[in-house]
Amino acid sequence: MSTNTSNNTQNVFQEIISHCKEYGFIFPSSEIYDGLSAIYDYGPYGIELKNNIQQYWWKAMVQLHENIVGIDAAIFMHPNTWKASGHVDAFNDPLIDNKDSKKRYRADVLIEEAIQKQEAKIDKEVDKAQKKFGDTFDKEMFLKTNPNVLRVKEKIGGIEARFKKALEENNLEELKQIIVDLEIVCPISGTRNWTEVRQFNLMFSTEVGSVAEDASVIYLRPETAQGIFVNFLNVLNTSRQRIPFGIAQVGKAFRNEIVARQFIFRTREFEQMEMQFFVRPGEEMKWYEYWKEARMKWHRSLGFGANKLKWHDHLKPAHYANAAVDIEFEFPFGFKEMEGIHSRTDYDLTQHQNLSGKKLQYFDHELDKSYVPYVIETSVGLNRTFLALICNGYKIEKLEDGSERTVLALPPFLAPVQIAIFPLIKKDGLPEKSREIMDVLKWDFKCFYEEKDTIGKRYRRMDALGTPYCITIDHQTLQDNTVTIRERDSMKQERISIEKLKEVVNEKIDWRAGLR
Ligand code: GAP
Repeated sequence: MSTNTSNNTQNVFQEIISHCKEYGFIFPSSEIYDGLSAIYDYGPYGIELKNNIQQYWWKAMVQLHENIVGIDAAIFMHPNTWKASGHVDAFNDPLIDNKDSKKRYRADVLIEEAIQKQEAKIDKEVDKAQKKFGDTFDKEMFLKTNPNVLRVKEKIGGIEARFKKALEENNLEELKQIIVDLEIVCPISGTRNWTEVRQFNLMFSTEVGSVAEDASVIYLRPETAQGIFVNFLNVLNTSRQRIPFGIAQVGKAFRNEIVARQFIFRTREFEQMEMQFFVRPGEEMKWYEYWKEARMKWHRSLGFGANKLKWHDHLKPAHYANAAVDIEFEFPFGFKEMEGIHSRTDYDLTQHQNLSGKKLQYFDHELDKSYVPYVIETSVGLNRTFLALICNGYKIEKLEDGSERTVLALPPFLAPVQIAIFPLIKKDGLPEKSREIMDVLKWDFKCFYEEKDTIGKRYRRMDALGTPYCITIDHQTLQDNTVTIRERDSMKQERISIEKLKEVVNEKIDWRAGLR
């Protein structure tokens, strides 16, 4: 058995998108009206996978931490929320248009991609040298001494320094100049005919109120975090928590993204899983490091190989943060942010305290004083995690008999269907026996019953959906109460007694293993 490793990653990504539609994971929104750009709906298997990811995050963050509690705040919030948080003034992206293709880009993303291209040159040099020198290759030494690598590193350093300064000073002319100097071309028109860089606020607004004159503008929340900050006192007063403690939330967020492509990677409506951890001022770096490790462990527990995940330190942390790092996953279109971890200082609580006039402080009995707590935030995209799992699990395998199968190797505890139940044929009492088994197992597992088609076809369909276990009921079952259980990845089949099924599957789909 060999894995098809097509180099054409763009084609693979298109295949993944088609797979998601064909197998009922994701559909374009309002498709009968030709869809709506950068908005998607989740189908019967998509919603199961999305719910499972969300629940797994909730278990890891809330159930396993005595000092983290959850909330579910409304999407609409008082408009002052967004004044205080800085989103009205500063939640902008720098835009640039190509005059020939009329396509719009984020200026910062164009520059980041140019930096990534330079970094890829270093990786290429390393690969070349590794092949040449084999086991004797000293990567660290090579990176420190190879003249080609040093030249590229110097170039990257120069671009990054200019880029960081331009972002810090909000210098839009300089951003444009960097794009010009790096000779960045529009991927559509292939030209360098750029407009000036402009700022664009990403919040969607709408109106509340029954008549136009009375209506006032409110925003659809661009992050779930603010629902946590404005509820800080409510939670503190009702949950018996003491610092350090966290508040977690999962919910929709909305951003009028300029560059909304790459399927569900960047959409205008999406879901975040966020946790704000309130700590003593001065202790924030200790907790920042703690949450960095804890969150990386969570991502690894999803079955992503070590080389699929990496850290990306922010050159310019957002307006509210004094330290920030992303966990990036290698999607088919490159390493991209999946989660952001921010040390948000006391920025948000102080801002809300100032604008609302309510004291958002904590009395620390040990220190015998009140203060505005500092905050470490972990914020991961639910949809991006979904996409990473699909990209990581999707493969086309060539089998020994020359045929191919499509497999979605999802972690068993997240799979939309955990057990498929198949009577070998549609008669002789096998469907009835299968239903009996289904009626027992469905209380503990997400099961799927199927009696149509050959057993081989039924297995293939379940492989493509990511179902980790298929149970087949045959004539022997009626005699000795045993079934065959087939494992998705190895395709191995084993005969076990019906009484043992629950115990065996439970052990195989245990969600706890990766978090211990
Ligand atoms: N409260 C902090 C915050 O919102 P962020 O880095 O802007 O930080 C956090 O967003 C996470 O939300 C990202 O790492 C990403 O996974 C997800 N996310 C952000 N914008 C998104 C979009 N337009 N579509 C899908 N996911 C998005």
